[in-house]
Amino acid sequence: MTGSGPVAGATAEVVEVTGTGPIGPYTLLRVAAGGIEPGIPGQFFMLHPPGHVLPRPMSLCRVDGGELCFLIDAIGPGTRTLCALKAGERLHVLGPLGNGFDLDVPHPLIVGGGIGIAPFPYVAQVLGGGPAILGFRSAHHAEAAALLPGAEVALDPVLVTSLLPAEPMDVLACGPEPMLEAVRARAPQAQLAWEAPMACGYGACYGCVVEVDGRLQRLCVAGPVLRAA
Ligand SMILES: Cc1cc2nc3c(=O)[nH]c(=O)nc-3n(C[C@H](O)[C@H](O)[C@H](O)COP(=O)(O)OP(=O)(O)OC[C@H]3O[C@@H](n4cnc5c(N)ncnc54)[C@H](O)[C@@H]3O)c2cc1C
Ligand code: FES
Repeated sequence: MTGSGPVAGATAEVVEVTGTGPIGPYTLLRVAAGGIEPGIPGQFFMLHPPGHVLPRPMSLCRVDGGELCFLIDAIGPGTRTLCALKAGERLHVLGPLGNGFDLDVPHPLIVGGGIGIAPFPYVAQVLGGGPAILGFRSAHHAEAAALLPGAEVALDPVLVTSLLPAEPMDVLACGPEPMLEAVRARAPQAQLAWEAPMACGYGACYGCVVEVDGRLQRLCVAGPVLRAA
C-alpha cells in the first residue's frame, strides 16, 4: 500500500521488513524502501510497530541499495516490538518528515552520543565521509561506532565534548539533552537534532511542543534539527 503522506514530500507505505541484527545493545532494522525517499539526513520517519496505537519517530540510519536501515534502542514497548520484527513482516512507514541537517557547510564535524549516532551513517554517506567524534557509556554501546569507520570514540566518564577540536567546525550533533547543551555552549553555530515524544510527526497533535527561541513550537515541524544559537 502506498500513498502520498499527509505532508508534502512524505510517503506513507506498508513495506516489507528485510531483516534485523544486533549492533552492540542496539538493533539495526532493515526494510525494503519501496517508494519511500530517504530524504535529507536528520529528517525522520514514523514507524508503526504492529499492535500499537501510535507510530514511533526514528532517524534514517543508512541507505543500503534498496533498503532503509534504522538503528533502534529498545527502551520501551514500541521500540521492543520494532526490534523483534522478523524478515517478511510488514511495517507501516511515513516519511521523510521534519527538517534535517544543512550539509552545505565547509567543515562538517559529526558529534554523536549513544543512540544519537543513529542519523550519522546516512550523513556520512551523503557527505562522502568526514570526521566524527562519538561518546558512549560502555564498550558494548561503542560497538555501534563500527557504523562510522574512523570515528574517534570517548567512553564514559570521558565526555565526547572533550574531543571537540579547538578550531571552529560546523558541528552536526545528536545525542542526549545534556550533551546537546554542552555542545551548544562550545559551538553556538552547531546544528542540533533534538527529541520530544511525537504522536503524529507532521504537526497535527501538538504532542511535541517545545520552547524554541522563546516561543512554543512543534518540534516535528520546526525541527528536529535546530541551530544551537
Ligand atoms: C525525531 C526523532 C528521531 C528519533 N530517532 C531515533 C532513532 O533513530 N533510534 C532510536 O532508538 N530512537 C529514536 N528516537 C526516540 C524514539 O522515538 C523513542 O525511543 C521511542 O518512541 C520510544 O518508544 P517506546 O514505546 O519504545 O517507549 P515509551 O514507553 O514510549 O518510552 C520509554 C521512555 O522514554 C521516554 N521517551 C519516549 N520517546 C521519547 C522522546 N522522543 N524523547 C524523550 N523521551 C522519550 C518516555 O517518556 C518513557 O520514559 C527518535 C525520536 C525523535 C523525536
Ligand atoms: S508530533 Fe504531532 S505535532 Fe509534532
